[in-house]
Amino acid sequence: MTKAIAFAQYGDPEVLHPIDVEVPEPGPGQVRIAVRAVGVNPLDRRLRSGELAERFAVDLPFVPGCEVAGTVTAVGEGVTGFAPGDEVFGGTMSGGYAEHVLLAADSVGHKPASLGWEEAAALPTAAETAERVLTELGVRAGETLLVHGAAGGVGTLLLQFARARGITVVGTASEANHDHLRELGAIPVTYGEGLADRVRAAAPGGAVHRAVDASGRGDEIPVSIELTGSADRVVTIANTAAHEHGVRFNGGNGERYHRQAYAAALALHEAGALSLPLHRVLPLAEAAQAHRISEQGHLRGKIVLTV
Ligand SMILES: NC(=O)c1ccc[n+]([C@@H]2O[C@H](COP(=O)([O-])OP(=O)(O)OC[C@H]3O[C@@H](n4cnc5c(N)ncnc54)[C@H](OP(=O)(O)O)[C@@H]3O)[C@@H](O)[C@H]2O)c1
Repeated sequence: MTKAIAFAQYGDPEVLHPIDVEVPEPGPGQVRIAVRAVGVNPLDRRLRSGELAERFAVDLPFVPGCEVAGTVTAVGEGVTGFAPGDEVFGGTMSGGYAEHVLLAADSVGHKPASLGWEEAAALPTAAETAERVLTELGVRAGETLLVHGAAGGVGTLLLQFARARGITVVGTASEANHDHLRELGAIPVTYGEGLADRVRAAAPGGAVHRAVDASGRGDEIPVSIELTGSADRVVTIANTAAHEHGVRFNGGNGERYHRQAYAAALALHEAGALSLPLHRVLPLAEAAQAHRISEQGHLRGKIVLTV
């Protein structure tokens, strides 16, 4: 048997408890990983609270955790390119708050020795989301992209991927996160009343070509449509009501972008240009505290649990 952290009922962070589970055996196309670190995402706490229960039912007890870093301990039939002992990171839908997890091999990447376990665990979800959104939004080199919630886990990586593609980024964030955005090459602006004018003043030539909402606040959606000139040029990953304004929700239900996302992140890392700030690192046993911190919001980078 092996340990995991699960919830057996929906509720507050206190419903997270250690459980014993069988060490899982990898099926075809899967690898088993001894987890060293697991990234904490807003999805984890939204599944735990029951907020998503109607749209996204889970079997209880449920082990959250959709991104990990660790060592391969077994590979399933048909897996090539990975062997026991390999240091890797990867994305999944659940099961990461555990000592052992199964991942689909095509969502796994090799971890360079120079990349820490915690940083590697902070990478898969944000990288896949950033690569997917930038590609599907069709934003091009030389254009200006407005990113809402730019200092969070996804925003931090999305703006670095955008800068690497030659895109100018204007990012909304709390004042406390503005220096962080400047260090990553984005132009920070504050949320709220007068946002459109502040963004126009910050953007080169006053032009905004595309916008991504990762904050889910809601008030930025009409402003983004006004600035870009069309709801087609705006996408949200955080606001399921944005369709009321004709804005698409990008949820990653179709093609997955792990491979090219990892290549983009590791190219930046090799160039010494990848920043994966960790808002907080806690032991796995303190998963409930990690959820409380995530609920407070205003994160700068990711929360990571170590195993
Ligand atoms: N659709 C997808 O494929 C997908 C994938 C990953 C994540 N997501 C979703 O995308 C959103 C962002 O994810 P994330 O991992 O980047 O989250 P996160 O790390 O918690 O960051 C969210 C950011 O939102 C900002 N924010 C804006 N208004 C806020 C408010 N009223 N309260 C608290 N924070 C506020 C915070 O920074 P400031 O203090 O600077 O405002 C924070 O940096 C979440 O809703 C998540 O569920 C969707």
